[in-house]
Amino acid sequence: MLTVFGATGNTGSVVVERLLAAGAKVRAVVRDRDKGAALAAKGAELVVGDVTDAALVARALEGAEGAYLIVPPDLQARDLLAKSRSIVAGYVEGLRRAKVPHAVFLSSVGAQHEAGTGPTRLSHQAEVALRAVGGTRFTFVRAPFFMENLLASAHPMRSDGVLPVLGGGESFAMPMVAAHDLGDVAADALLAPPSATEIVEVRGPRDRSFVEAAAIASEILGREVTARVVPIDAIVPALTSTGMSENVASLFRELSEGAARGLLAYEGAGRTVRGRVTLEEVLRRGLAPSDASSVVRRVFDEVVNQRRTELLPELFAADYEGPQGGRGPASFGALVDTLRGGFPDIQYVLDEVIAQGDRVAVRWSWSGTHRGTFRTFAPTGRTITHRGMSFFELRGGRITRSWTELDRQAFAEQLSA
Ligand SMILES: NC(=O)c1ccc[n+]([C@@H]2O[C@H](COP(=O)([O-])OP(=O)(O)OC[C@H]3O[C@@H](n4cnc5c(N)ncnc54)[C@H](OP(=O)(O)O)[C@@H]3O)[C@@H](O)[C@H]2O)c1
Repeated sequence: MLTVFGATGNTGSVVVERLLAAGAKVRAVVRDRDKGAALAAKGAELVVGDVTDAALVARALEGAEGAYLIVPPDLQARDLLAKSRSIVAGYVEGLRRAKVPHAVFLSSVGAQHEAGTGPTRLSHQAEVALRAVGGTRFTFVRAPFFMENLLASAHPMRSDGVLPVLGGGESFAMPMVAAHDLGDVAADALLAPPSATEIVEVRGPRDRSFVEAAAIASEILGREVTARVVPIDAIVPALTSTGMSENVASLFRELSEGAARGLLAYEGAGRTVRGRVTLEEVLRRGLAPSDASSVVRRVFDEVVNQRRTELLPELFAADYEGPQGGRGPASFGALVDTLRGGFPDIQYVLDEVIAQGDRVAVRWSWSGTHRGTFRTFAPTGRTITHRGMSFFELRGGRITRSWTELDRQAFAEQLSA
């Protein structure tokens, strides 16, 4: 039995798939049973729980011949390093108790340094603590910057043509790897464990800079994307404004300073593996304009149902023409606000979506409680359901025109009867 923590994550999901494909028995640790359902359907045994729960960790490791260990990212942590120390202490205890002969730990380039490397310090602490477990051999997979990190900036790249670069060094070609390659390295080690503890330093096919990443994104998105430096003193406010805790944001500032001092370099202490997945592939998969029907689905699911109006510039073209003569993405936002003003809990269900190239037709129904004045109708407190059809035209993955056909009389009757 091989136990995989973080089994629904970028790397863990690849590890599970690879192990199952090789015919191994896999126990996948997930936080949410529904999210693990696809893994269970492929044959993995699920253990549901939180990695901060040492008893759960011990249970997940019982009878395991190998384990894949990660410290999950927590961008809101009040003390990230203390939290990760306690997670690693749970792993140490569980590995000892279950006498697990081999484990892979997802570590970081720069883990050889005790200080000055921000979140990478957790990898140093973890490697030191795990090495002290008698009876378990380790494969420390030291990863550089994940290519997928760039996708966290998908929104500013699409909407503003900006790829933020924390602290500078935007032209410097640095090692980057795809999570998929790390999953492969980890699975290989679990299937053929080393005879002694080893360090594996992973690189991508070639080193790349943020300026190159921005150029690739420009080509995929069909608009100019520029790498823009966030100066060192602006890093903490910029990151906390996205909801990151002060503690984690300060660690990222330290990471940028450490990178500038050359602390995130390979140690040259173990074997080196080169991944195969290119930056072009990762960015294309994450940024390529979605097909027309999924853009339209996002309008209903995310903009209207979840009120995520910040997505309007991503989904609507700057020259969008709305149903009532409105112009620009904000005019669609105004329509949503009007509906929400009358029916604050409004939820759309898409009964049918038909796409042909860049044109999409949707048959929808919505329901909501009439709690506010809607056009000339004073609130009635009634739950209203309404049906209609909307039509969309797109260009380059964004909506350029939309209009709606509905039975206004039936709607008015529900509000005035
Ligand atoms: N990003 C980088 O550039 C970089 C570089 C070097 C090393 N690393 C290391 O890579 C790690 C991330 O690996 P990854 O990308 O595979 O992770 P990921 O995609 O962020 O996934 C995290 C996984 O952990 C699960 N998880 C989160 N919190 C949990 C909790 N409290 N209890 C149980 N499970 C929990 C998540 O489950 P849900 O699906 O339920 O959320 C998910 O399966 C980092 O933490 C860091 O140590 C990252």
